[in-house]
Amino acid sequence: MSLNQQARAILTGNDRGGYTLPTDGLYPFQWNWDASVTALGWMCFAPARAWEEMRWLFKGQWQGGPNDGFLAHIAFHAPSDSYFPGADEWGTDGAPGTEALRTRTSSISQPPLHATMVRWMWHRAQAISPQAAAEAAEQVRGLLPGLLAHHRWWYRARDPDRSGLVLNIHPWETGMDNSPAWDVPLARVPQATRPYTRHDLGHVDASMRPPQSFYDRVVYLMDFNRAQDFDPVKILASCPYRVQDVGIISILQRASIDLLALCAACAWDGDVQDLHSALARTHNAIEALWSTRWSQYVSRDAITGELLDVPTSSGLLGAYAGFRHDLGPTVAAWLAETPYALPSTRSGFPGFEPLRYWRGPVWQHVNMLIADGLQRQGHAHLAQAIQACSAALFEASGFHEYYDPLTGRGLGGRAFSWAAATCLHWTDGAMKKQAGGA
Ligand code: GLC
Repeated sequence: MSLNQQARAILTGNDRGGYTLPTDGLYPFQWNWDASVTALGWMCFAPARAWEEMRWLFKGQWQGGPNDGFLAHIAFHAPSDSYFPGADEWGTDGAPGTEALRTRTSSISQPPLHATMVRWMWHRAQAISPQAAAEAAEQVRGLLPGLLAHHRWWYRARDPDRSGLVLNIHPWETGMDNSPAWDVPLARVPQATRPYTRHDLGHVDASMRPPQSFYDRVVYLMDFNRAQDFDPVKILASCPYRVQDVGIISILQRASIDLLALCAACAWDGDVQDLHSALARTHNAIEALWSTRWSQYVSRDAITGELLDVPTSSGLLGAYAGFRHDLGPTVAAWLAETPYALPSTRSGFPGFEPLRYWRGPVWQHVNMLIADGLQRQGHAHLAQAIQACSAALFEASGFHEYYDPLTGRGLGGRAFSWAAATCLHWTDGAMKKQAGGA
């Protein structure tokens, strides 16, 4: 089977009719940013199914109340007991905004990639056929209200002071769960003392997963959120973990740019001036997160005001977000340091661990975003170098959750949807074109 056929088979195998599991067993529900990347993959061979993925994600969007527009990191469309923390643990049933939902959800969000992925999907649909393009235009129009509400939730609930730098209240919201960038702020979080049982270690070796001390703290934060009735004002006033993550901020910035482009293309007649203002605020405020030590953007601890001066790949998303600094020289240095680019944490950093989740391994969809930004910033050769590394990883190791940047070995969950989707959308066609053109 060709890589393309294998990738399609993975999406088809993880399909649960309307939504796609990241991988069976380890992640038995629909995840937020996974869904957007996965939809991009479906778009390459089953456009109607791609739009369905997005529609299903928005089935879990909260409506009304202080969290109007909130989109959770997990939509529990069907029950499963192979994952902790499952639907009962989050306690969101009956929370303001969930009354009309038929899908149970978690209480934290994830990087808002959706508008960008929707724009890329629409672009691809236009190349497929006039019929696919017409279907896409209709689907985009249907998704716009939910997308706008979601962006507004981020700006309203997570940046009430209009600083331009939205906050997050749980490391899982960043999608980069155990990044070494969260070590300092997380150390201040008390550890949960209630009993609970992890299920992840039954699926994946412990050397590739976060330790117990990490889980005790993320469980504490989950319970804290529930104890505050999910009220964003109460949470921001007292949550012991408040971080301005450069990954979320960059992804939101780019997604707002793409959302405005979608609104214009659909002749959307609602007022979107608030999004223009939010973009301008972030564009200026982000410069406070520039690290002179690492020559890249980094995150900040919003409680102490200190930079979390850790070189993670999320800080290379500045070009993707359209921020001012040139990231070319820094990315070139990263590329020279590990055989398989780009690791999630720079390999020279003391917290780098090549096997452990977000502390070192390569995550292919993040690299796709970084490469897109470099291409736009005029560094086509760097974008191609990242793409070539990713293609080599797919070729050598197949479709894993993440990969060892030193050996190229596939790690974590197998038959993983976002790896398959990233291959279909990004490396498959492009590498064939390059080989054919050479
Ligand atoms: C892990 C990842 C997160 C992802 C989820 C499902 O929690 O850290 O980014 O969304 O798995 O794949």
